Amino acid sequence: MMRYLPFFLFVLLVGCKETTTTDNTNAQQFTSNYDEPYRLQYHFSPPAKWMNDPNGLVYNDGVYHLFYQYYPEDIVWGPMHWGHATSKDLVHWENKPIALYPDENGLIFSGSAVVDKDNTSGFGEDGVAPLVAIFTYHLMEGEKAGRTDFQTQGIAYSLDNGDTWTKYEGNPVIGNEGIKDFRDPKVFWDKDTKQWVMILVAGDHAKFYKSPNLKDWKLMSEFGKDQGAHGGVWECPDLFPLDHPDPDHYAKKWVLLISMNPGAPNGGSGTQYFIGDWDGEKFTTDQKEPLWLDYGMDNYAGVTYNNEPYGERIFIGWMSNWNYARNTPTEAWRSSMTLPRTLKLKRFNEGVRLTNYPYDKVDTLVYDREPVYYTEGPGQVYFDSVNLNQHRIQFKTSAKTDTYFILSNNLREEIEIGFFPEAGKMTFDRSQSGKVDFEPSFGAQRQEQPFNPDGDDIYVTAYIDASSIEIFVDWGRYVFTNQIFPNEPFDEVQVVPADEAALRWFRIDAIPSIWNKPTN
Ligand code: FRU
Repeated sequence: MMRYLPFFLFVLLVGCKETTTTDNTNAQQFTSNYDEPYRLQYHFSPPAKWMNDPNGLVYNDGVYHLFYQYYPEDIVWGPMHWGHATSKDLVHWENKPIALYPDENGLIFSGSAVVDKDNTSGFGEDGVAPLVAIFTYHLMEGEKAGRTDFQTQGIAYSLDNGDTWTKYEGNPVIGNEGIKDFRDPKVFWDKDTKQWVMILVAGDHAKFYKSPNLKDWKLMSEFGKDQGAHGGVWECPDLFPLDHPDPDHYAKKWVLLISMNPGAPNGGSGTQYFIGDWDGEKFTTDQKEPLWLDYGMDNYAGVTYNNEPYGERIFIGWMSNWNYARNTPTEAWRSSMTLPRTLKLKRFNEGVRLTNYPYDKVDTLVYDREPVYYTEGPGQVYFDSVNLNQHRIQFKTSAKTDTYFILSNNLREEIEIGFFPEAGKMTFDRSQSGKVDFEPSFGAQRQEQPFNPDGDDIYVTAYIDASSIEIFVDWGRYVFTNQIFPNEPFDEVQVVPADEAALRWFRIDAIPSIWNKPTN
C-alpha cells in the first residue's frame, strides 16, 4: 500500500470534498477524439486522465459493462472512482459518466458486479433485477494514521442497468479486524450451492465468503498461504469453472486467478493462476508450481465477466505495470485495457494449461478487408512499406527452428521477439524500442518465458495498436503483452527463421479504429 501514500497529502487538501461526495450527479462528461500520440485505436482507454484495474465486469440486458479504477483529475493515481464504459460486442465502447464516487467510508477500490436476478438483496423494484457492485473502500486517513483496518467492503446498486448508482446504507458489509491488504472482492452466484460467493485477497492468501443476500457475509475458507508465488501482495482474485480439457470429463475444473505485485516473472506486476476444484466451500489444487497467464510486463489485475451470455469466459486486464504505470509518456490520458480474451483449459505435453486469446469478435474488425500483405514460405519476410501502427500480423512457421520476429523504424528503434525451441524459451526485447528511459525496468531486461510447443509448427498472432503489442502463440498458449513507445511508428517487419524452409505463410491486416473514425 506504500504506493498510495504520496497521494495522501493531496487527499488531505482537497479530499474532504472528494470523500464526502455521495450523490450520483454524474456531472463529469468527457469528450475526446482519441487522436493523441500513442492513443490506442481498437482498445479501450479512458477519454481522459488516469485509469487502472478493470472492475465490475458484468453482462446485463444486452450490455457488457466495463467499470474501471479511475482518477478523473489527473494522469497519475489519485482518489479512486469507478469510471464506466459499455459495449454491445466487447469491441466497440461507449464512454459513460462516472459510476461510483468516493464517500465517507473511503475511496472506491477494485471489485466486481453481479445481476441479482432473484432480488436476493431486496434492492430490486417493480420486477427490475438490480445490478449490484461489490467493491473495497479504502480510507486514506486510516492508512495515514498507521492503522491496519482501513480497507472494508461495500456494495451499491443500480436499477437502470448501470447508469445511476445508490450506495447501500448499511455499508461497509464486511469490516476489517486488522488486515492491512484486504481487498478486491470478486462475487459470483454459485448455482450448485445456491448462494453468493466472494473471493477476497488478504495480503498473502485468498478468503472465501458466502452470502444469501449480498449484505450478510460469512467466512468459509482460505487458500494460498503456502501455495503459488509470494513475491508480492496478492490482488484482484477471480474464481470460475471451465470445461475440462480431456474428453469424457464432464466435471468442470475451476481456475483461481491471483494478480500479484511485485514478483511477476519479468518484473513488477503479473497474474498467476491455479487449476483445481471448488466444492462450494473451499478451493483445492494439487498444482505444485506457479503458473502465469501472460509473461509480458503489461497485463495486470485482469478479471472475467459475470453473467456472460454465450458460455464463454472472457477476461480483460489493465495493460500496465505498477513499476512504471505513472511514468509512461502519454499526456491527456494514461493506460488502456488489453483486448478482451477468451480463457480455455487445454492439455499439452507438459500438462493442463490456461490459454488466453482475443475474443472472436475482435477479428470482425478486419472481416471483408483485403490483407495489406500476404506471402507464402519458404524464405524470410522483410516488408517495409506500411506504417504498422494499427495492425494484426500473423504467421506460421516451424516449431523446430529458432526464429526472430522484428518490428522496426527508420530511427533504428525496434522490438525483437525470439522463438528458441532448442533452448526452450521465447523472448521479448523492447530495450531499443523508442522511449524507454522513463523508468529503469521498462526496457532494461529481455523478457523471457518457457517455450516448448507440442506441434510441428507454431502459429503466431500479434496485435499492434499505437503503444501496445499483444503476441499470442498457438491460440494463447504463450502470450506476451507489452506497451511500446516508438518515436515513429514501426514500419518494417521481419520474420527470420534460422532455416529458411521453416516459414509457411505470413500475413498483415490493417485494423480500423473503433472510435468513430474513417476507416484507414
Ligand atoms: C491493483 C490494485 C488493487 C486496488 C486498486 C487500487 O492494481 O492495487 O488491489 O484495489 O489497484 O486502485
